[in-house]
Amino acid sequence: MKGTFPIEKFRELRTPFYYYDTQVLRDTLACIRTEAAKYDNYSVHYAVKANANPKVLSIIRESGLGADCVSGGEIRAAIKAGFPAGKMVFAGVGKADWEIELGLDYGIFCFNVESIPELEIINELAAAKGKVANVAFRINPNVGAHTHANITTGLAENKFGISMEDMDKVIDIALTLKNVRFIGLHFHIGSQILDMGDFVVLCNRVNELQDKLEARHIRIEHINVGGGLGIDYGHPNRQAIPDFKSYFETYDNCLKLRSYQTLHFELGRAVVGQCGSLISKVLYVKQGTNKQFAILDAGMTDLIRPALYQAFHKIENITSEAPVQAYDVVGPICESSDVFGKAIDLNGVKRGDLIALRSAGAYGEIMASGYNCRELPQGYTSDELV
Ligand code: LLP
Repeated sequence: MKGTFPIEKFRELRTPFYYYDTQVLRDTLACIRTEAAKYDNYSVHYAVKANANPKVLSIIRESGLGADCVSGGEIRAAIKAGFPAGKMVFAGVGKADWEIELGLDYGIFCFNVESIPELEIINELAAAKGKVANVAFRINPNVGAHTHANITTGLAENKFGISMEDMDKVIDIALTLKNVRFIGLHFHIGSQILDMGDFVVLCNRVNELQDKLEARHIRIEHINVGGGLGIDYGHPNRQAIPDFKSYFETYDNCLKLRSYQTLHFELGRAVVGQCGSLISKVLYVKQGTNKQFAILDAGMTDLIRPALYQAFHKIENITSEAPVQAYDVVGPICESSDVFGKAIDLNGVKRGDLIALRSAGAYGEIMASGYNCRELPQGYTSDELV
């Protein structure tokens, strides 16, 4: 089954471009709201890194989610879209001084701190402004998620977070500093996780660490378990909305949240992944040796995930019903890795056909580059194209 698209409108636009189906986005947000509201004290933030298109951000902001930012630029984009600073968290292993100062000036909810030197600098910069910054420590729980090696983040070998062994030491330091307030722990084990068992392992780790804190009579009010819920790249229509029910249920069943605690989530891909497609035009169909190539005007500069992570995106010829043939679908960039898919079955392709690369709403437009002096792709919502 192919997606439904406003083909006539598409014909008027310069390709390649991103297309966001706002109905899918709004339905996804409604589902998140309903499922999270079943539990007391669940607070969901949107991971801005997945897609910072202003129109997409503003729809997400309307739904009431907070924002998870990893740079000063993302803080600015979130503020511009109307996210309240009081619902904003700021993570990242390498926060520059100006980015910390920006967070302090806006009065964001919390800095997710990843090292002792960073903690000391936040304390210093906050002192200079006469402020006290809320901080949570990102603990590396040494949990391997069943996902691509490039997008696991919770293993001891990764650069992220503070090791479990160092947790006590870091907390001791924080308690001596006057311009930071230690309010919680933060975790994130990886992305595109579909096996709820991975989240169960994280919950068990968090429970152990909470017991340790309690033994020391340290009370924290916030636990942030990051994001990571995956989407069904194989079937963007059949399962347009990820399984938020099981996701939140897993945390409710396995994480021993204290009555006075809030549980925070930072979801990116699961919020925006399925609403977006990269729309591209076929430039040429070329016969190769024992194969044929569909050469698109979109390349790895527009959607880098297949080249970078060998990621699968469903490819559809949305302007043809001709008998299916197999094609290697490639872009125009001067790199052999500029391939979207090999031996892909598509309805017979001819020059000028429109091709949709599905499930591209997350880590698509935002990761586009200007390599080969190419222009960045535009993003359009379905609201604009009616
Ligand atoms: N929180 C933290 C601390 C993160 O590092 C990330 C993603 C998220 C939340 C959101 O994760 P999500 O819910 O989207 O899985 N570019 C890669 C994905 C990189 C993910 C980086 N961190 C891709 O295209 O697959």
